[in-house]
Amino acid sequence: MQQHIMEGDTLVVFVNGIKHEVTKPSAETTLLQYLRTELCLPGTKLACGEGGCGACTVMVSCYNPTNKNIRHYTVNACLMPLVALHGLAVTTVEGIGSTKTKLHPVQERLAKAYGSQCGFCSPGFVMSMYTLLRNYPEPSMSRIETAFQGNLCRCTGYRSILAGFRTFSKEWACEKGENCCQNQKQGEQNSKICTKTFDASEFAVYDQTQDPIFPSELQIKTNYHTKTITFTGPTVQWCRPTSLNELCQLKQDNPDAVFTVGATSVGKDIRTERIQGLVLCLSHVPELLDISSNDIQIKVGAAVTLAQLYEYIETIATDTNGEKKLGLQTVLDMLHQVGGHQLRNVVSIGSNIASGGGRSDVLTLLMAMGATADIINAQDKSTECKAISQLVADDGSCLLLKQQIITSVNIPYLTQGEHLYWHKHAPRTDLNLATVNCGMKVKLNAESNTIDDLVLCYGGVGPSSQLASNVKQETRGKNWNNDVVTFVCDLLESDIDVTLNADGSVNYKKALVSSLFIKFYLKVNAIIQSQPDQSPDMSSVRSHPLSEASEVFEDVPADQAAIDTVGRPVVHKGALQQTTGEAVYCDDLPAYKNELHIVLITSKRVHAKILKIDASKAESMPGVKGFLSFADIPNQQSGHAEHIFSNEEVKYGGHVVGAIVAETEMQARVAVKHVIVEYENLPAVLTIEDAIKMNSMLPNCSVIKHGDVDAAFANADAIIEGELEMAGQEHLYMEPQSCRVVPTGEAQELEIIASTQGLADLQDGASDLLGIPQNRISVKTKRVGGGFGGKEATPLCLATIASIVALRFNKPTRLVLDRATDMEFTSKRHPINAKYKIGCLKSGKIVAEEVHFYINAGYTPGMYGLLAIASLLNLAADSGYKIDNFKLSANVCLTNINPSGAMRGFMSPPLALLMQTIMNDVTVKLNLPSTQVHEINMYKTGDRTFYNRELNDAGSLKVCWDTCLTNGDYYKRKAEVDKFNSASKWTKRGLSAIPVYRELGIPVRPFAQGAALVNIYKDGSVWISHGGVEMGQGLHTKIIQVASRVLEIPCEAIHVLGTDTNCVPNALMTAASHGTDLFGMAVKDACETLVKRLEPYKRNSPDKPWAMWVMHAYLNCTSLSATGFYDRGPEYVLNFQNPYDGGKGQKYFVCGATMAEVEVDCLTGANRVIRVDATMDLGRSLNPAIDIGQIDGAFVMAFGMLVSETLEYDENGFLKSKDINSYHIPGVRDIPTKFNTQLINSDSKEAVLFGSKGVGEPPIHMGIAAFMAIKDAIHASRIDNGVQGNFQMNSPANAQQIFKLLSVKDSIAYDKLKSNI
Ligand SMILES: Cc1cc2nc3c(=O)[nH]c(=O)nc-3n(C[C@H](O)[C@H](O)[C@H](O)COP(=O)(O)OP(=O)(O)OC[C@H]3O[C@@H](n4cnc5c(N)ncnc54)[C@H](O)[C@@H]3O)c2cc1C
Ligand code: FES
Ligand code: FES
Repeated sequence: MQQHIMEGDTLVVFVNGIKHEVTKPSAETTLLQYLRTELCLPGTKLACGEGGCGACTVMVSCYNPTNKNIRHYTVNACLMPLVALHGLAVTTVEGIGSTKTKLHPVQERLAKAYGSQCGFCSPGFVMSMYTLLRNYPEPSMSRIETAFQGNLCRCTGYRSILAGFRTFSKEWACEKGENCCQNQKQGEQNSKICTKTFDASEFAVYDQTQDPIFPSELQIKTNYHTKTITFTGPTVQWCRPTSLNELCQLKQDNPDAVFTVGATSVGKDIRTERIQGLVLCLSHVPELLDISSNDIQIKVGAAVTLAQLYEYIETIATDTNGEKKLGLQTVLDMLHQVGGHQLRNVVSIGSNIASGGGRSDVLTLLMAMGATADIINAQDKSTECKAISQLVADDGSCLLLKQQIITSVNIPYLTQGEHLYWHKHAPRTDLNLATVNCGMKVKLNAESNTIDDLVLCYGGVGPSSQLASNVKQETRGKNWNNDVVTFVCDLLESDIDVTLNADGSVNYKKALVSSLFIKFYLKVNAIIQSQPDQSPDMSSVRSHPLSEASEVFEDVPADQAAIDTVGRPVVHKGALQQTTGEAVYCDDLPAYKNELHIVLITSKRVHAKILKIDASKAESMPGVKGFLSFADIPNQQSGHAEHIFSNEEVKYGGHVVGAIVAETEMQARVAVKHVIVEYENLPAVLTIEDAIKMNSMLPNCSVIKHGDVDAAFANADAIIEGELEMAGQEHLYMEPQSCRVVPTGEAQELEIIASTQGLADLQDGASDLLGIPQNRISVKTKRVGGGFGGKEATPLCLATIASIVALRFNKPTRLVLDRATDMEFTSKRHPINAKYKIGCLKSGKIVAEEVHFYINAGYTPGMYGLLAIASLLNLAADSGYKIDNFKLSANVCLTNINPSGAMRGFMSPPLALLMQTIMNDVTVKLNLPSTQVHEINMYKTGDRTFYNRELNDAGSLKVCWDTCLTNGDYYKRKAEVDKFNSASKWTKRGLSAIPVYRELGIPVRPFAQGAALVNIYKDGSVWISHGGVEMGQGLHTKIIQVASRVLEIPCEAIHVLGTDTNCVPNALMTAASHGTDLFGMAVKDACETLVKRLEPYKRNSPDKPWAMWVMHAYLNCTSLSATGFYDRGPEYVLNFQNPYDGGKGQKYFVCGATMAEVEVDCLTGANRVIRVDATMDLGRSLNPAIDIGQIDGAFVMAFGMLVSETLEYDENGFLKSKDINSYHIPGVRDIPTKFNTQLINSDSKEAVLFGSKGVGEPPIHMGIAAFMAIKDAIHASRIDNGVQGNFQMNSPANAQQIFKLLSVKDSIAYDKLKSNI
């Protein structure tokens, strides 16, 4: 029986120096909810809500009354219960600086180094860096490089973020090293070439004394830290005792009480009401917070956080050597890889052990080390010490009795002859749970080289961490040699029970179990033989090399006026607002008092008939206003209707079945669980293979032919046939889908504010669905926190549902998706399968090509019928290669997975991957240098596409290619890679150079127009509205630069408020990389009109300032408002049914080239990009810094698509990877170690806006170089094993697939690897 302890205390927390008192705080409330809704501090963002992205990072400061120290540390506000913050100080992004008062240098540098694109992640990065500076005012480069382990960014590719923050390091110097222009004498500088996008000397100096001070009240009143406190909420009573005695007493009185320290696991259970009753927080029990060491071990209090333990060991490790030091370093390695800093700052060692599970990093190592835990029994205060391995049950739970508490953990030092190893194999470097992890320890007899003791512990293989008990017994006394490896690997097959199939196949995990032991064996031998270079590790985490980068671009002409910023780096216009947290995203809009909230109900079947929906219980719950479904759509005949709500049938897991409306989001969330939906399963088609078998395809197969394919095949010297599968990709924009609808008037007028890329399409669709004329619906967007195509179609669904509610209840309504719903419901990049046949000559020239591909459109054909043919055109014309005879065909498959939709690059990245695969096949088949095969097939100036479009820009392709090969020193490095591979058995390197060639825009007549409205006000300030949406790509910044050039006024005098259908109607959605061309040209047009109107006033008073001409114009009744319009022209279209009918298609092509070098770990399939050299011709770039940022971001996004991002579905077709922790976009330490970018300018006559070219999508092709380099490395390993010839490598080439390909036999590489030893 639980006893209540006392009346609730009042919680005191300081936020940004201000004291807040909360009576009856609830343990269900997170710090993030409190900040955003109670304190109206929306700078801290909600992107995932599960501790997986760092967008919600804040700094917590805590005073220790014993040692009088103040500890500053980052936490994820989305995980942290508010009640855990009593007596602590929280600093948010708003608390450190602002554009209105004073910027903090961290905010300034991130913005001015172009490290903030869409900006949704920026407050989190700012707070991670700020906290680092509070602890290390002059941090080392490596501390900076690892400070963002817990922060993800989807836009920037991280390079610019690191570049800005590195300027805080005392080790910082320009990344060009000796070649830095600062080191060149005046006059020596090459005036045409720039190598800097920002000037660090202009940054404000960081002065720690200016940082906010810790609230003195929290230091003076020790009660905050020494008094037991209790908060009583609706379901949970939270108590923080202050002595072990008291803790034991409380536990004795309340046997069901749950313990917590960091609440990263318990917190979720509290919020979902799985935990109710008393929760005892151990964070202030002094007996559990001590760390000490003696000659044999370190004793760590159970409530000590992993970060505190790291600091302690780091300190003592400096004074040690030999085995002891190596052992401590291994512990540090492990600690460093548990989550990110935000997690390690709160998670305690005791709770990591107690929460167990099969993938704990801590457990695997501590079990291998033979660590023990001191335990106290709360009932009788008896104590005991147990091996940690004895606490781990087979099902992953902790074998503690209810009344037992871990008080400390004893970590033994290594002794003479002992070797320790820990390895975590995971889908990305940081912020993820292990696929397989292991702790391994061997004690060797130095004289006999025999095994005294071998302990192997594995995680990720089942519900609990497992010790290899037979290995321990059977290897004692055996010689430590190659034979023992085979012996152990055989034993491991039965000793370790690989049962869990959470993220990868059982076979792969089984193979890893053996290969990780092989790694250990090799590593120990390398140490014994003092040959560290023989170690099989690609790069240990501690020695993860610092990344470096350079960028080169052309300066503007010497005579360009200083006021004219076109062609110069200009900081993203919203960047400072983004880095200070002032930037307003849709969900940051202040709530109306009477606002309603919607939560969606998604299908729990992939294909089923809906038999019944019973929402009666949900509708009767507190605060609930109603339930909505298909029947509530006013125009059910609309073509969009079934995408809003499923009608009678659900067609994929995630299809929206209905929605609950309530007064608060929480009420709606609770009620949703009580909506009962009954289904009857229908047969499901899940894959392209299924669709072919079941003929679930659109009836027409699209075909494009050119030349005489049969004759060309007949004359070819070699024929190659192959297949390629390319999986989908999740957009993973950081800002979730969100919208707010306000009924604004008496005539069904609606104001929709949405995170959308296509306002007019949304207006159009909503009008159709609601049966309201478009002129009553205004759609607005200030900015979008990342779109990548994912916010083209889906926002209509949210906006329609919210509009129905807003109209019905006549109240403002908000709909923001949580991450899981967002991922399960929204569209993804389309999966494609391609079967190809190629005919080529001995020279490598491809003379015939036949490709059939299947596009998986998901549950709805959408636009894929049309796009199939469009894609064929892409493939035929847009690959950068001239092939004279081809037959291309495509089928569109309909399956029960998420709808496929637009994603950065649309069809072209997978198609470019297919072309590169074909090029590689030709290279391997004919044993030719790959550069020869590329060059002989590449478009040349004057070549024509098959539809007779002259390629005037093709010459620049060769320039980019040659520059890239030269910059990257291709031939020398190719020889070096070959040399490395011949000497290295366990790691292989690969090098690949590819050309990039892509059309820009959409060759359809209405999709090539842009409109704008430009107003000049009486004070001379200029306001612009145009049809494009700012998603981080810097569109508004470039637009302002354009207007500034035409009007000849400074950028500061020009403002873009946002995008609004009331100001610019019928705008094309911002997509296809031509936003700047279309809207920039429209703005240019409007500005030119205004310049003409002002001309007389300028002529009359040439010496007067701009504002005076404006005033004179006003006084003379001259309109100071102008619309602008751009029409690309009727000739730039393509007839998809008959492409030969004379349409030119695109205005221009974008050319580039990329070279990538990678390293692959043959024992796991892990890989690392060592170096990338990227060259791109963007014409006269409008803003080189922003364009380089697009290249960086696109490369990393493509690398994710092709290598680390795996969409996993369960056997029923449900998306498994539907949270940020299970879908692995690249993190900060996955980026190329060296990244060199050069923009070149071919002075294209076809470029549109001041000679510039669009940039958003073409560089996504660049990531393919890394994929092909991985293939090259695998090829090298296969050759070692005597396997010649081509092989199929699908995308994503995740570690599992790479590992499989490294194998010669079946699917398990280790068989072969074992025999190699
Ligand atoms: C985003 C994210 C990433 C993660 N990444 C990793 C990772 O890379 N590697 C990894 O190993 N883990 C990872 N984890 C798991 C994480 O380590 C656990 O959530 C964490 O260890 C729990 O610690 P806590 O202090 O927050 O525990 P709490 O949630 O506070 O408590 C957890 C459990 O421990 C019990 N407990 C706590 N202290 C004691 C004690 N002294 N005696 C007895 N029982 C006690 C509690 O009763 C409770 O059942 C991750 C978790 C998240 C959310
Ligand atoms: S929102 Fe908190 S970590 Fe993602
Ligand atoms: S700038 Fe980082 S997510 Fe957009």
